[in-house]
Amino acid sequence: MEKNTIDYLRLSITDWCNLNCIYCTPLEKKQFLSHADVLRYEETVRLTKLFTQAGIRKVRITGGEPLIKKGIIQLITMLKQIPALQEISMTTNGVLLKQYADQLKQAGLSRINISLDTLKPDRFLKITGKNCFHQVWKGIEASLKAGLNPIKLNVIPMKGVNDDEIIDFAKLSLKYPLIIRFIEFFHTNQRSEKYLNLLIPSEKVKNIITEKCGTLHPVKKIKGYGPADYYTLDNAKGKLGFISGSTTSFCDSCNRLRVDCAGKVSPCLFSGPIFDIRPLLRSNTSDEAIVEEIKRNVTQKSFYTKHSTNCRAIEMSSLGG
Ligand code: GTP
Ligand code: 5AD
Repeated sequence: MEKNTIDYLRLSITDWCNLNCIYCTPLEKKQFLSHADVLRYEETVRLTKLFTQAGIRKVRITGGEPLIKKGIIQLITMLKQIPALQEISMTTNGVLLKQYADQLKQAGLSRINISLDTLKPDRFLKITGKNCFHQVWKGIEASLKAGLNPIKLNVIPMKGVNDDEIIDFAKLSLKYPLIIRFIEFFHTNQRSEKYLNLLIPSEKVKNIITEKCGTLHPVKKIKGYGPADYYTLDNAKGKLGFISGSTTSFCDSCNRLRVDCAGKVSPCLFSGPIFDIRPLLRSNTSDEAIVEEIKRNVTQKSFYTKHSTNCRAIEMSSLGG
């Protein structure tokens, strides 16, 4: 089988988050990493540069919540100087986006994905533990204004939690040039394991939408841009996307590597780390030797392209999806 080009790095820059979502933050008391354990920006930028020498062309900044990190604009500015990097994007909960959208765009961020599971302020509080719906909505408006296109909203439809909002979310794509993505719930820790019955398969979500909003017209998939399938409704300004990791497998087309904020590299959300780059960054190891080590491990990715159910999950809250 032809091997995938691994060119997309998901870079978590913090394990902290300003929300406490029901399905994400671990049940057991979380030990956050110490300041010294987390990579400094200089180390993150060097790491990214070295990954580009091993073929990485796109970087997505994640967390925890990346916008709570001091100096985030400075980080994007520094990453933007890396010539081989073709795109810098971010996944955020949007709480701090209003104040940062313009600066992010100016610093060189290309596009943004925002997690939002409800359009009802009181439900937002129940799901996330914080009363921030309006703040997030203002962040979405600010991103539209700043031109952080395409802007994707990540919605996890959950049985009995927000499934009565599927149509409201779908209709947002009629009014706004947003990409609304329905992500199948999957379990990542003891907390989400309790909620496995929340899963609504994408096929069911599509049926609900088709029944009330009309035909979903498939949009040609752009290779290398994530596992979602995209559709449009008639007369829509935006699109709808479906990420179906629980009912289908997209391992065969996976093009990503993940690095957590302490420098642990994982080939897959479900595999656990396979190597630790921080000791190399903090020793006298040359750039060339680190690039060789990255290449060796990137090559190993092919061994993981079919993750099995017995693979241990990693905390979403620190790896950022
Ligand atoms: P783009 O498509 O480039 O916009 O990025 P993305 O959709 O991968 O980024 P985002 O951070 O918005 O991720 C959305 C979610 O897609 C992730 O959190 C996961 O739920 C899911 N996802 C992305 N990659 C994988 C994967 O390799 N396996 C599984 N099971 N789910 C994934
Ligand atoms: N199942 C599916 N998606 C999840 N996300 C976080 N936890 C889960 C889970 N258990 C998604 C959020 C966020 C993205 C990075 O990961 O919607 O937008």
